[in-house]
Amino acid sequence: MRLDGKVAVVTGAASGMGKAIAELYAKEGAKVVVADLNIEGAEAVAGGIKASGGEAVAVQTNIAKLEDIHAMIDKAVSEFGTLDILVNNAGMMDNMAPVGDVSDEKWDLIFDVNTKGVMRAIRKAIPIFLDKGKGVIVNTASTGGFSGAHAGAAYTASKHAVIGITKNTGFMYAQKGIRCNAIAPGATMTNITAGTTDWNEFGASRTKVTQGVIPRVGQPEEIAQVALFLASDESSFVNGAVVAADAGWTAGF
Ligand SMILES: NC(=O)c1ccc[n+]([C@@H]2O[C@H](COP(=O)([O-])OP(=O)(O)OC[C@H]3O[C@@H](n4cnc5c(N)ncnc54)[C@H](O)[C@@H]3O)[C@@H](O)[C@H]2O)c1
Repeated sequence: MRLDGKVAVVTGAASGMGKAIAELYAKEGAKVVVADLNIEGAEAVAGGIKASGGEAVAVQTNIAKLEDIHAMIDKAVSEFGTLDILVNNAGMMDNMAPVGDVSDEKWDLIFDVNTKGVMRAIRKAIPIFLDKGKGVIVNTASTGGFSGAHAGAAYTASKHAVIGITKNTGFMYAQKGIRCNAIAPGATMTNITAGTTDWNEFGASRTKVTQGVIPRVGQPEEIAQVALFLASDESSFVNGAVVAADAGWTAGF
């Protein structure tokens, strides 16, 4: 098993990629804190892991709230004794609004969840990792983290920032045994757009240009395989990197 005995926190683990990552990590021997705003979903995922013989605990976490982030990391320590792997996966899509149409409320919400939540969770985990002289961080960025043509202004900027903090964290702690990498998924079959009702027609029409050349839509399990590689010692020399998992979409755009 590739993560035998490791303790992992996975955010946004009630659905989509986070669920697939939590389940794969548990299958590979990790004890998993299944963190999500949606506690029923998180409990279902943790229950499924336990039913398959794995170890998991669900914790209700709004990643936009500092106290929830602290409670989430504390839960890993109180329940499983330590923290080895932090997967910052929780995130939300915007409504494709270009900057001319973006509201302050939407901008702040997207940044609180997609970006500030990532920074705060890393900041909380760092002392534990420094103490151990070891630790792994995997951030779910997006192809929208390096392309300007995949989402609205808020989502695009928030994911560019996730790539920035990934590189900075990887560099800063490179000699402290801590690695920090990101995955940039392309279009993947999840529930990410399920709650969006206020699509911005102009912005959405602009993104159609690149959506038309998506080679294929991925499955969450394909992203989980990348997250497994980045969490395991097999990627020991990979740090501060962004791995695109998009079937070649951004190879052309
Ligand atoms: N699906 C795609 O095409 C795609 C592409 C690139 C990047 N991503 C990124 O992948 C990550 C996972 O998304 P997904 O596609 O699996 O979507 P998803 O909606 O299926 O899962 C996201 C999970 O995050 C949780 N979540 C949302 N806001 C939260 C909050 N404030 N606190 C805690 N949990 C919260 C949701 O409850 C949900 O369970 C996100 O960061 C997303 O931006 C998705």
